[in-house]
Amino acid sequence: MPTKLWGGRFKKRTDPAFERFGSSFKWDCRLLAYDLKINAAHVKALKACGVLTAAEAAKLLSAIAGIQKRHESGRLRLDKGAEDVHSAIQAELEKLVGTLAGKLHTARSRNDLVSQSTRLYCKAHAAKMESLISRLQKEIVLKAERTQHVFIPGMTHLQNAQVVSQAHVFLAYAEMLERAKQRLQAARPFFDVCVLGSGALAGSTFNLDQKLIARELGLSSIANNSYDVSGDRDFVLNILSSAVFAGLQFSRIAEDLMLGQTKGFSLIDIDEAFCTGSSMMPQKKNADFVELARGAAGIFMSNFLGLAATLKGLPTSYNRDLQWDKRYLFDSVENCEALLEIFIKVFKTLSVNEKRAKELLSDESLYATDLVDCLVRKGVPFKTAHEQIGRIVSFAEEKGRPISKIGLDILKHFAPRIDGDVYEFFNAKHSVKMKKTVGSTNPAEVRKQITKWKKLLG
Ligand code: ARG
Repeated sequence: MPTKLWGGRFKKRTDPAFERFGSSFKWDCRLLAYDLKINAAHVKALKACGVLTAAEAAKLLSAIAGIQKRHESGRLRLDKGAEDVHSAIQAELEKLVGTLAGKLHTARSRNDLVSQSTRLYCKAHAAKMESLISRLQKEIVLKAERTQHVFIPGMTHLQNAQVVSQAHVFLAYAEMLERAKQRLQAARPFFDVCVLGSGALAGSTFNLDQKLIARELGLSSIANNSYDVSGDRDFVLNILSSAVFAGLQFSRIAEDLMLGQTKGFSLIDIDEAFCTGSSMMPQKKNADFVELARGAAGIFMSNFLGLAATLKGLPTSYNRDLQWDKRYLFDSVENCEALLEIFIKVFKTLSVNEKRAKELLSDESLYATDLVDCLVRKGVPFKTAHEQIGRIVSFAEEKGRPISKIGLDILKHFAPRIDGDVYEFFNAKHSVKMKKTVGSTNPAEVRKQITKWKKLLG
């Protein structure tokens, strides 16, 4: 039996090097389970429109179920030389039911078939990625819950800025990841379309019940235009762009963890199960996972760009260029899922060094903004207060003395409205409690955020 789904008009054999190069089976074998599901739905629709008798449909359905079973138990051996997974399944069915298998390809083309199975793959994996993101958020929120009392120097420009709680920073990660999840959620309708019946580009002369197929496949809409379906890979771009967003967030979170675990900070400890050593320097414990996570953003961006470049200027409807979509798709999805699975464990095992957090807070310039606000409350215009406290910070730096150890008379020399209560300000808890705005690092606000997340994530 020929493996090819075409060939009648060809007199020559396909060049073997081209055949190997052109085969997408090595990638699209991942679509196998989806393709089988589609085949089963298609059999039912072909029976409904009279192309298959009940007996033929039953025979095909049981053959498809048999392939599925062997696939699940790892006993399925398809022809790896097939042009693609769709051709390989067709060939397998021919082995099982003979020429009856040829009827299955009525009213369809690989153009709508590949589009449908790729959409089902995207739908399933977008859902998986969403749930992995939720699990990671849960882990992060748990860490936040346990670090509400740990105060650290919050930084901008990588310079000490103001005191925040470690929990507040962790909760920022939960927000960032939520946006990545929202991208995936927004992409859902692109995957949830029944495109079978579109055929190669023009539709089919058979009265295929697309509603029945949509129901069988759990899809909520039917494609509007078969010509569009034939060449549309925007749904793949959508999942690839979601991976870009997720990857960017991973890279920034990874960089925070990376910095936190350097000797200079020693604030965060990443479990050694996610680190490696050096072949030369025995003392090394390198945080390789977070470095790989930081670097992976490049993969996601290049995969998005790769497909975008493929689509640019391509004539509408199907062109074989589109076959390359799968390399980008599987690479991004598989890497994104793997990163999420590992990040979950990294956060579960990560610890925050509270003693070190206290040491890092010895820089009293972290309270400078609070001191400015204190003067403002006494009636000093903000700009003047900013200037005065700036001078005090500079004086303290010059003298190598903490501000809290400078006498009130000297402080008053720089800021005449300053009072004895100024010395209460060099306290992390006091500093965060002073914050009043919604979403601030005030412990009450942080608690609110934690409650919100716990309710949301279940
Ligand atoms: N393997 C092909 C792909 O992924 C399937 C569609 C082939 N269609 C065709 N007319 N050659 O795009």
